[in-house]
Amino acid sequence: MEQQKRYGHFDDQHREYVITDPQTPWPWINYLGNEDFFSLISNTAGGYSFYKDAKFRRITRYRYNNVPMDNGGRYFYIKDGDTVWNPGWKPCKTPLDFYECRHGMSYTRITGRKSGVEASVLFFVPLKKWCEVQKLTLTNQSQEVKSLKLFSFEEWCLWNAATDMENFQRNFSTGEVEIEDSTIYHKTEYRERRNHYAFYHVNTEIQGFDTDRETFVGLYNEFSNPDAVVEGRPRNSHAHGWSPIASHYIEVTLQPGESKDFVFLLGYIENEQDKKFSAPQVINKDKAHALIAELDTTAKVDKAFAELCEYWDSLLNIYKVRTGNDKLDRMVNIWNQYQCMVTFNFSRSASFFESGVGRGMGFRDSNQDLVGFVHQIPPRARQRIIDIASTQFPDGGCYHQYQPLTKRGNNDIGGGFNDDPCWLIFGTVAYIKETGDFSILDEQVPFDNQPGTEVTLFEHLKISMNHVINNLGPHLLPLIGRADWNDCLNLNCFSWDPNESFQTTENVSEGTKAESLMIAGLFVVTGKDYVALCRKLAELSAGQGSALAYGEEADRMQQAVDAMIDAVKKHGWDGEWYLRAYDFYGRKIGSNECDEGKIFIESQGWCTMAEIGAEDGMVAKSLDSCKKYLECEHGMVLNSPAFTKYIYEYGEISSYPEGYKENAGIFCHNNPWVIIGECIAGRGNDAWSHYAKILPSYVEEKYQTLHKVEPYVNCQMVAGKDAFRPGEGKNSWLTGTAAWMWYTVSEFILGIKPDYDGIRIDPCLPETAGDYTVQRKFRDAEYDITIRPNGSQKGVKRVVLDGSAIEGTVIPYTPGKHTVEVEM
Ligand code: BGC
Ligand code: NOJ
Repeated sequence: MEQQKRYGHFDDQHREYVITDPQTPWPWINYLGNEDFFSLISNTAGGYSFYKDAKFRRITRYRYNNVPMDNGGRYFYIKDGDTVWNPGWKPCKTPLDFYECRHGMSYTRITGRKSGVEASVLFFVPLKKWCEVQKLTLTNQSQEVKSLKLFSFEEWCLWNAATDMENFQRNFSTGEVEIEDSTIYHKTEYRERRNHYAFYHVNTEIQGFDTDRETFVGLYNEFSNPDAVVEGRPRNSHAHGWSPIASHYIEVTLQPGESKDFVFLLGYIENEQDKKFSAPQVINKDKAHALIAELDTTAKVDKAFAELCEYWDSLLNIYKVRTGNDKLDRMVNIWNQYQCMVTFNFSRSASFFESGVGRGMGFRDSNQDLVGFVHQIPPRARQRIIDIASTQFPDGGCYHQYQPLTKRGNNDIGGGFNDDPCWLIFGTVAYIKETGDFSILDEQVPFDNQPGTEVTLFEHLKISMNHVINNLGPHLLPLIGRADWNDCLNLNCFSWDPNESFQTTENVSEGTKAESLMIAGLFVVTGKDYVALCRKLAELSAGQGSALAYGEEADRMQQAVDAMIDAVKKHGWDGEWYLRAYDFYGRKIGSNECDEGKIFIESQGWCTMAEIGAEDGMVAKSLDSCKKYLECEHGMVLNSPAFTKYIYEYGEISSYPEGYKENAGIFCHNNPWVIIGECIAGRGNDAWSHYAKILPSYVEEKYQTLHKVEPYVNCQMVAGKDAFRPGEGKNSWLTGTAAWMWYTVSEFILGIKPDYDGIRIDPCLPETAGDYTVQRKFRDAEYDITIRPNGSQKGVKRVVLDGSAIEGTVIPYTPGKHTVEVEM
């Protein structure tokens, strides 16, 4: 058999994925930056940087979906005699003697070698700093003296990434730069309302520069053969309008064996209104000078890098499993948690599938992302909850997305996605269970960001639940609104006009009977959480007047939850599985009666997690149906069979060709719902086999050529069994899959569940599982937990805490170090 092509491998010791061939089947990217300043970087150094918001504060330019793919980035051109090459192969694509890209935790190191010269670039964003460091190390590995010409290259974006791509009648006249020593400043629009500028600096004297793109590149050339580089002669151009860039020119002589470091800095600065200028038209550079001074030597940069690595050590020390199975351990201990941080930071805004222009932070997305991230940095999760809740409306509805820069709801998309409110409970409960910080519920949070409208966060949770109760349909199931979790199930849209957006068009909704079983299940799960929270609050306020009120609130919501359970049992069951929805006219969706789309995954996931009808065998039947009808080689598809024609009553879902995206793709995001359903039902073997199918390290081989996207993270969608090319992966990185995979494995499979009073131990494992340990930092405690499954899939028999057996399965929280032994 032919050996399968491989593009890279895991290096667990360094927590890196090592790419050994630059021509990956799709750019394999990484993210730099943890707060405020961010960059995307591909394995050939493509990508861009931005401050907080990929739409409104784009620092460098990037052209998506380009030819060739992934053109534009931070490029170093090395001219050695007549040969020009780049350490990351692109853009010149000169064949290299050696190439390697190591994507690590918030850093990337790209190394190339050509004719006895090695160029290694370490890219990272130092903690708390608004800049990207590019430390380039040039080494002469040959026996001769090398005289090299080095050109750096960045292309500025005119800040607003949307208008940068379209408003050329203006853009071509606004560009402005300043040059001072070895620093090139980008100050377009600074003369008017902007108080920010960017700069590109190198910590050495330069022998030339360019700031005008056409002068540097040549109008009819490409990034692979810029005039200035090919001729080995910078033009010292000064950009006025057109397209400003930043390129340094440095002449480097290296003795045999000699190595030199160059620190390049791409920085972003904001000035106070009254300190914008140091002279008329001249930007005040004080802050830039200060930032440069913090990072102008190799030693300072190495220290900043060491701090970043320590930071990641500490984050990844919070939850650490040892199962002896490297493939599982590396996902749990490294990559899954890393992806959770990235999705928390970016929501669905900026990836190689999301342009950074279209979407901000999703209401539901961010709440889910939070569940994957809250154990890492709880205070950031806390702030996020407040930001999200601040975009809610007084009736409990909310903006579907908000912009990270302004934190304001996004009017382009508006609201009306009726699952959204429930997610606020999901996120908030996870936060309180992790931290024990009930005070967040007392925070004063406005509606639609309007000062003066503040009520407590608890009140926001209450109106979130009420929003569902106040919007029930004829079967007493939740009205779906524009869509529920499935953005593409637009049951009130009815569009024949290709110029209308499915998600914002509601041509009819008056008198709608469109109801969602997904929201029903979500409501039961989050409703139970809400009830438990109220009971907890009643307990905490025992003896005070509020205790009674919390108790009553718990009772009220319990009744609503019970009523919902009844409604699902009565109107939401199809015999072998849960229905998916009722359409506008009250007809079933996701029923055996339908020609296509007979069964959907979302309602199976949520209703099994909610255990609706478990006593009547509904849960077990539903889970079996997922195996029978949804499961395929690469995971479970979203619906089956796929829709083969456009059904205008259903909206966007049937607009997708068979097997892709919401039309029967494997939406990795919702596979974990069923897996958790399996875990709750105690079916460890089934849970594990579903999980392993979409666990990147388990199917790493498939990623190399079939899935195509990065093998170290989950992607949103893998083409389903009905697709033209089943198994192709798309939309990597920014997907709720990250948080759900984490939640599934950390809490339901490995069974370490934060709870209000401690940690609940409740694993659900395949019967082949061996003993394992989990080190878990939790608030001010640290637990060293050993679990012995003894061949059992579920059910904890005995928990021994610091040598004494405890009652039940919740390890009560007490600060300090503890050992825990668990027998199943
Ligand atoms: C896409 C969906 C996607 C959604 C995100 C829709 O327009 O077609 O596949 O999940 O947007 O909001
Ligand atoms: C991606 C969106 O970000 C998410 O909010 C949605 O639930 C899924 N697509 C499914 O449509």
